[in-house]
Amino acid sequence: MGQARVSIFDTTLRDGEQSPGCSMNVDEKVRMARQLDLLGVDIIEAGFPVASEDDFAAVQAVARACRRPIIAGLCRALPQDITRAWEALRGAARPRLHTFLATSDIHLHHKLNKTRAEALEMAVAGVRMAKSLTADVEFSAEDATRTDVDYLCQVVAAVIEAGATVVNIPDTVGYAIPSEFSQLIRTLLARVPDLSKAVLSVHCHDDLGLAVANSLAAVEAGARQVECTINGIGERAGNASLEEVVMALQVRGDRLPFGTGVVPEQITRSSQLLSNITGVHVQPNKAIVGRNAFAHEAGIHQHGVLQHRRTYEIMTPESVGARTQSLVLGKHSGRHALDQRFKEMGFTLSKAELEKAYKIFIKLADQKKEIFEEDLLAIVQDGLAQIPEVWKLRAVQATAGTSATSTALVTLWDGEVESTETAPGDGPVNAVCTAIDKLTGLRGTLLDYAVRSITMGADAVGEVFVHVDFGGSAASGKAASTDIVDASARAYLNAVNKLLYARGSRALQSAASA
Ligand code: KIV
Ligand code: ZN
Repeated sequence: MGQARVSIFDTTLRDGEQSPGCSMNVDEKVRMARQLDLLGVDIIEAGFPVASEDDFAAVQAVARACRRPIIAGLCRALPQDITRAWEALRGAARPRLHTFLATSDIHLHHKLNKTRAEALEMAVAGVRMAKSLTADVEFSAEDATRTDVDYLCQVVAAVIEAGATVVNIPDTVGYAIPSEFSQLIRTLLARVPDLSKAVLSVHCHDDLGLAVANSLAAVEAGARQVECTINGIGERAGNASLEEVVMALQVRGDRLPFGTGVVPEQITRSSQLLSNITGVHVQPNKAIVGRNAFAHEAGIHQHGVLQHRRTYEIMTPESVGARTQSLVLGKHSGRHALDQRFKEMGFTLSKAELEKAYKIFIKLADQKKEIFEEDLLAIVQDGLAQIPEVWKLRAVQATAGTSATSTALVTLWDGEVESTETAPGDGPVNAVCTAIDKLTGLRGTLLDYAVRSITMGADAVGEVFVHVDFGGSAASGKAASTDIVDASARAYLNAVNKLLYARGSRALQSAASA
């Protein structure tokens, strides 16, 4: 008998994106979705189409870009939500409507103002409507772990009868503990005989740091779909981390004999791409993908690993695609070799993309001589992002100090003319952003500003990440430089250019659909 299979449902682009600082624009979601496709997840939840125009556009774009995995769109059990989600999903090769409704008394009473009977009716009607549009329908009983068990069994039985093919049991507020959660899964399987006709799924939040443990306990008890996110991002403390769930199943196959379709060697790339896009980096000691996840500091450990890796390593960094420091190409390598290397890394580039990547590669090879896989990854993940530079930085100068107000002088180029402005500010970064606002005519408010060093030493390169609100539309930007003021100005301009690009493509979209 073959190994039982657990489906990996990735919700990085929906629940993950709901976490503060992790919002992504449509292009960024498509880049991330392509990587999730390479990673081998079974389902990509691409967004909540009724929530915003951008969410709608992202689900539509991901559905067009990724044809292998199932693409799910979230909707409340309400006709307008379901209709909107279906409009976004209908072009998908394998669409799934994911409808949800809270079932706990606390949500029914305080949030929905509904009786249990009314909610049951709504859930059934929502599933029926979704089923009239597509065959693959998932129902989630929000706050299932705080729901009365008899009522939960009733809801689960009713939605299966109405046509749900997947039933998801979320621990919405991260309240469950593993023994209790596995008991709940067993109870549902025992008391709802028709559950064997559907896939039983779990979706755990990490408020008590138990999301992964709860997910694994549920799998042991019979769940066959796990909802999770890259780097564990998600509402509040986040969701179960995909890389931890997958590697626990892989490393502890002796106790957890379940396979997934995930290609573990793509884990580090997926984690890094997400951090690159959002500017939210994992803590150094994060399991599987943290900088220190495979670092052996104590001499005794280092000695042990040198003698025999398994003394202190339960999995190798290579097995999750980390530390691929092998020299791959040099400045004399041609387009063909570059293309070949990208293919080996899992990226198939179009002719135009390869040309662009090659130009960046040659420039980099001139500066660095030795090109590693990480560099190629940065080229494909960052360099190929097609954000036109409407505004370019020509020069920036700022003064700062404890006894004087900061001032900045910024010169920008808009493709035709060069203009300069000065501005005072509360610190040099604020002065730079204000001067840029004067030049572009936009008014931005920094929601988040982070600097991190990406190389070591006195000439270290610092990367600045900004998240900016432009009067209701937010955009993120990043840039690296040995000069923090320069990096800040470029990161802020990157956000400005992304905003203008998003506005432009939205205008084009509505003109096309008018
Ligand atoms: O946490 C939750 O309950 C959810 C559902 C919408 C699946 O995210
Ligand atoms: Zn959730």
